[in-house]
Amino acid sequence: MFSEEELKQVEELKSHYPTNLSAVMGVLHMYQDKYGHISDEGITYVANLLEVPEENVLGVVTFYEMYHQHKTGKYKLQVCTNVSCMLRGSDMVLQTIKDKIGIGIGEMTDDGLFSVHEAECLGSCGTAPMMSVNKDYHENLTPETINELIDALKAKG
Ligand code: FES
Repeated sequence: MFSEEELKQVEELKSHYPTNLSAVMGVLHMYQDKYGHISDEGITYVANLLEVPEENVLGVVTFYEMYHQHKTGKYKLQVCTNVSCMLRGSDMVLQTIKDKIGIGIGEMTDDGLFSVHEAECLGSCGTAPMMSVNKDYHENLTPETINELIDALKAKG
């Protein structure tokens, strides 16, 4: 499932840690970046690759919201709903998205372009409300900037 090049990256990652267990999160990120989500097959693959129990890998995947076990949209809208963002309008963010593309948390558009996810604090509380789209942060969100962002992503396809 990983290419030669990616397997080299895994080896490099492992070399930074005293045990393979510590490399699980990094390798899961690699897997998710490549496949968009971490399937049961992916959990088994990562466990075998790192020679760690599958239960440990599953535990990490289910504990952290940043890992997705099901197919996600090309653009993952991860809306922070933690305290600062909640106080400064995460409900508005979710409602604006819903009005614009018709989906809420845990849903994906029929064309597979967008999925919406709830995120815990993404460390950008000073610029709440915010969300990440894949790896990019979008902060101080307003209905206008959200609509513009979604239009831009749609145009990109
Ligand atoms: S509470 Fe939303 S980024 Fe911290």
